Amino acid sequence: MQFLCFTLLLEMGQASEALPDVLRGRYEGSFAYKTISERMPVILTKVIDLLHREKVTIGEQYGQAAREKVKWINGQLSELKSTMQRNKPLEPLSGAGSDVPLWNRLLEEQAASFDDKQVLWFDAPWLFVECFMYRKIREVLENSGELAHYDYFGQQKVATLEDSLGAISLLGEHLLEVVTEPGAPSQERKQRAVADFLGMSLWANKNDLSLSAGAHVSQEDSPLTQLVELNQYVLINDSARVFHQLELLRHREHVRIDIVMDNAGMELFSDLCLADMLTSLGIAQRMTFHIKTMPWFVSDTTHDDVRHFLQRLAAATDTPALPQLAARWQAYLDSGVWRLAADPFWTTPLPFSRMSAESPSLYQDLQAADLLVIKGDLNYRKLLGDRSWPHSTKFCRALEGFHPAPLVALRTLKADLVAGLPAEREAVTEGDPRWMVSGEWALIQLCECADSDRGKNEL
Ligand code: F6P
Ligand code: MG
Repeated sequence: MQFLCFTLLLEMGQASEALPDVLRGRYEGSFAYKTISERMPVILTKVIDLLHREKVTIGEQYGQAAREKVKWINGQLSELKSTMQRNKPLEPLSGAGSDVPLWNRLLEEQAASFDDKQVLWFDAPWLFVECFMYRKIREVLENSGELAHYDYFGQQKVATLEDSLGAISLLGEHLLEVVTEPGAPSQERKQRAVADFLGMSLWANKNDLSLSAGAHVSQEDSPLTQLVELNQYVLINDSARVFHQLELLRHREHVRIDIVMDNAGMELFSDLCLADMLTSLGIAQRMTFHIKTMPWFVSDTTHDDVRHFLQRLAAATDTPALPQLAARWQAYLDSGVWRLAADPFWTTPLPFSRMSAESPSLYQDLQAADLLVIKGDLNYRKLLGDRSWPHSTKFCRALEGFHPAPLVALRTLKADLVAGLPAEREAVTEGDPRWMVSGEWALIQLCECADSDRGKNEL
């Protein structure tokens, strides 16, 4: 018989209380409003400009018919932008994608919550409409036929990777030093490595380009030195608790750690460094990387990004560490020690609390992990259901029952929501009115209580 962990029981007592509302763009001055009115139209415009600019190359690569479709695609995308800016209703999806029925059901669900049954861009939940825009762009391309698999964010991701090669080389060299150090790794060495590589994976989420605090990462900067400076901006740092969690698994024969990935480029590199350290120091025997099935939130990692990334590292022969790492990582993937998994759930607008009902197979897969590392701002929003929880709400409580395995969120704050932040920690952001959205502040936040562990530690 399984027992509910004590904290969960206490939290369930609160479950009947009304939940805080989800973030919406209807409040002028909110970050959601700014995103829908300014940031999202710019993202659409960039896709339109890119397709226009790349017409000739597209024709060469995908054929004349594809080139001729660009005008139609851009017409559709312009229309999408205009409906968004005029706060018109969201239209159902019409493509053949296997996720279309789900999307349209969720759209109907949203419509049912409004008196006039209209889902408007600024009135509907921000998370829903933002995800909808990315899915709609994909639909337009899918419906074009020839350009169904074209990655309209590909160029930006490639440029990001190229810009980050300096920092990538430094981090890669550091990783090789750590994992090739002679002798069996002591507990202290492991603990240090876990804290360092969690930190580097965290700060790579600040922006897609670098570990630095907004500034350009120069070749001379050591990523580790930056980490020491950046530590003061980590509002909650559960690294030591994460290490303790890993310690509990020490005598297990097969430990599996999953990373729910976020951005390509420097962040992908840092995440794979974290995975390499965990694998090489014998902390994990299996790693799964959950990536996206389609271009998503501009820089999120897809299969093609991983392929291109490993090829690029293999070709970086002026930094021997990089081809070496590319070969190591490819070997891990080929042998099944590492696995890439791309479930369509990650590109739905659903909060993670609905995963067990809407995507039971993914939930079960995550339950097989001993620890989940959940990366980035969008995943954090989905963990919290994009609700404006009182900031001091317990992190585990705000997950609303999403507990497939112990999980740690690594997130730089780029949206105005947070949980698990006591007032005395929030006080350190005083004087920075943009602390929730600037990406300058960060969290390493653990929730240990998992279905499989219920009763083990808490009772
Ligand atoms: O635009 C919404 C948003 O969640 C931002 O808050 C954030 O800048 C971006 O999308 C995605 O960030 P991340 O790559 O960390 O998920
Ligand atoms: Mg992202």
